[in-house]
Amino acid sequence: MKILFATSEAAPFYKSGGLGDVAQALPAELARDPENDVCVFMPYYKAIKDRKLSEITFVKSFYVHLSWRIQHVGLFKAEMPGGRLTYYFIDNEYYFEREGSYGYNDDGERFAYFSKAILESLAVISWYPDCIHANDWQTALVPVFLEAHYRHLPDYSRIPVLFTIHNIEYQGKAPLHFIGDVLGLSGNWISILENDSCANLMKAGIVMSDRVSTVSETYAVELTDPIVSREVHGILSRYACKLTGITNGIDTDVFNPATDLSLPKRFSAASPAGKAACKAALQQEMGLEVREDTTVVSIVSRLVGHKGLDIVAAALDEMLAENIQLVVLGTGEPKFEALFREYAQRFPGRVAARIEFNAQLANRIYAGSDIFLMPSRNEPCGLSQMIAMRYGTIPLVRRTGGLADTVPSYDPTDGSGLGFTFVDYNAGELLGALRRALALRADPDAWNALSIACMKTDNSWKRSGSAYMQLYRDIIRCREGYNG
Ligand code: GLC
Repeated sequence: MKILFATSEAAPFYKSGGLGDVAQALPAELARDPENDVCVFMPYYKAIKDRKLSEITFVKSFYVHLSWRIQHVGLFKAEMPGGRLTYYFIDNEYYFEREGSYGYNDDGERFAYFSKAILESLAVISWYPDCIHANDWQTALVPVFLEAHYRHLPDYSRIPVLFTIHNIEYQGKAPLHFIGDVLGLSGNWISILENDSCANLMKAGIVMSDRVSTVSETYAVELTDPIVSREVHGILSRYACKLTGITNGIDTDVFNPATDLSLPKRFSAASPAGKAACKAALQQEMGLEVREDTTVVSIVSRLVGHKGLDIVAAALDEMLAENIQLVVLGTGEPKFEALFREYAQRFPGRVAARIEFNAQLANRIYAGSDIFLMPSRNEPCGLSQMIAMRYGTIPLVRRTGGLADTVPSYDPTDGSGLGFTFVDYNAGELLGALRRALALRADPDAWNALSIACMKTDNSWKRSGSAYMQLYRDIIRCREGYNG
């Protein structure tokens, strides 16, 4: 099957969040099947160009129309080993020769351009996919432009689109005149794009795609709640029959404590001894007291409100009344950065905060901690809890979205489950879950058994990859039926 994966970010080229990890691991998983041919399209950001990667080569240049604009496209590509996975980069200095990826006033125009350029590229490279997988608002216009400008062309007439929502918080909104002035779409399209008196790109993606998926089964259910889906609640309820949840996986080759060279000692479920050495080394590296008896609790996260940091702030004094050490890594809102810096100063040897993005240190934290704390207010899927588990660290999470799907609660009566969970979003519930975890830690055999069960859990992309394949087959079959 020929699959086009449209994304605004993909590791290892450029990543700002979980979508970047998914866009690295899922296409690679799909390309393992010799029957598949996968092309990932992403913008050629300045940050990628600056690295001057020799594997990225020029393909062709051409122009796309965006309403009255005629914009240049430089198409570049990088072929991955194995020959079944190609990354295509859309280059335009005006739109992408900037720092970072998002957050500009003209983001709507930049990603409308990107979406149109993807469709235009297919004719240029003479490669027409059997299906397109678009992701988040940045590529939500792919099914819109496909319908508006390309469906009448035989090569484009049958291509179905799956649209995946990674986070409903970011919908891509613009003033209504955007529809004519930037997208160049006629008045007929207003009803497709308009939501709450503005153009809402995520809404248009939901309406125009063949199927919609989101990144965990529980989040798919949560999206039916108006408090979660907010402005697009009405539209999601109308198209509820199109919506499916497929829980993300992690790349188990990238995240593997048995081979990870950033760790001071490697370990695995079969030979877990190295984890204790990783804990001691982490305590040393972070300036904490090197003690085995204390429980290292860690947070590796963007330091923003919906990650649950306000309830961590409220619980912090009582948490530190227990025999724990706290390690925090991440950047984000100034108030949370200041909070953790302040606690690190007030509790030297017990609290350590690194306000930075550091992938290697993150892995040493996953490996050297006892408990990984992720009390998110909402979490479509979440990847860190799965990485922590792979490194034998027991997750303590709020039971929401993908956290609910990947962390079954530990049951002391029969030892089932993989972590500690709480439901109500408040500091007391978080503390209750922490105390239950600490009670189990007092029993080293039970604790180690739980840590090994976490390491053995299979959160690889294999299962989710085949769920996506099934969905692609379904939408292809439906289109074929529809087109007669
Ligand atoms: C978004 C979500 C996160 C999810 C990721 C990948 O970043 O917030 O929960 O894991 O996308 O789908």
